[in-house]
Amino acid sequence: MLKVRISRVLPGMILGKSIYSSMGNVLLSAGMILNDQYIKRLKEIGIPAVYIKDSRFNEVNTPEVVLESTRIQTQSEVRGIFEQIELNGKINLGSTKQMVNKILEEILLNQDVLVSLSDIRTYDDEVFGHSVSVCILSVITGLKLGYNQLQLRDLGIGGLLHDLGKACIAKTILNKKQQLTPQEFDGIKEHSRLGFDILRQQEEISPLAAHIAFQHHEKYNGSGYPRGLKGGEIHEYARIIAVADVYDAMTSDRIYRPAFTPMETVQVLLESMGSHLDPDLVKVFIKNIALYPVGSIVTLNTGEVGVVVITHPDFTDRPVVRIILDKHQKQFTGLCEIDLTTSTEYTIVNVLNDYNETLPPISHIGSRITGTKR
Ligand SMILES: [Fe+2]
Repeated sequence: MLKVRISRVLPGMILGKSIYSSMGNVLLSAGMILNDQYIKRLKEIGIPAVYIKDSRFNEVNTPEVVLESTRIQTQSEVRGIFEQIELNGKINLGSTKQMVNKILEEILLNQDVLVSLSDIRTYDDEVFGHSVSVCILSVITGLKLGYNQLQLRDLGIGGLLHDLGKACIAKTILNKKQQLTPQEFDGIKEHSRLGFDILRQQEEISPLAAHIAFQHHEKYNGSGYPRGLKGGEIHEYARIIAVADVYDAMTSDRIYRPAFTPMETVQVLLESMGSHLDPDLVKVFIKNIALYPVGSIVTLNTGEVGVVVITHPDFTDRPVVRIILDKHQKQFTGLCEIDLTTSTEYTIVNVLNDYNETLPPISHIGSRITGTKR
């Protein structure tokens, strides 16, 4: 499967992953052949990119730490809580706790899988999809820090509901495409305090979840809001969520820009160490991230271009790459996979943000390539 921006999707391409509505319903199932009408509709509802099947990579696995169905279900759960607040201000977090438990179980089962979250979000579910990703990324960080189940659960609930205060902010401001006025920006900033006020009244969850909501926009050097706390004054859970928050926001597609690659985003995290983010937590976080997720198109120092087909948990920057263009940029017709952990003379020098028309066409009916050379 390869991720292709919607502007480059052509009729006849086969969908590699199902596309869900923001309500969690399947809009188009994996395996469908896209036609002009489907592509037009996907553009209309704001789908920025899709996964397309490519017969050259049929057997390539894209392991996920948390099942897509669990993510979609949790996303609907968060949406439901936001709607309850908008409706009557009262929320019931019983099933939210169950969803966080499910996420926790799946993460514990897949501890050796590197994170490469790959959901595609529409305009209107950015907040909910983001909440689920922040929950997953934070729990994985907590796990690496040696947290026990109780700590992981509190952290996960806090991650899932950290932006809950946004349910109290006018949608016209939240979704405004033009630049916000200073007053509007101050209004949005209120979501930390509003989320805290809602969550601290919920007896079934730890008050720490409320503190996460309150503190998730504080910055390590004291320049954040609402209170300008710094360093250890900010609860560790909120410092973890701040890292996950930046990472997920940058690696998500927006209709006005493609997602930054994990490598580009990690670079920003490293530059934010000590200013915005806790340096120790950034170091723990990036060890769990697939810097070049399966399906990434990369250029090697030799000039060859290939697709990442396997990632190694202990060597996040040295995956196995299947060559698709030779060093003269001609289509490579054999099968050559280079394992960068053993072929140390190779390095990745560039990641293509997107499937590009200079690359060989995606063939959905081509025959399987044989004759492995590693
Ligand atoms: Fe926020």
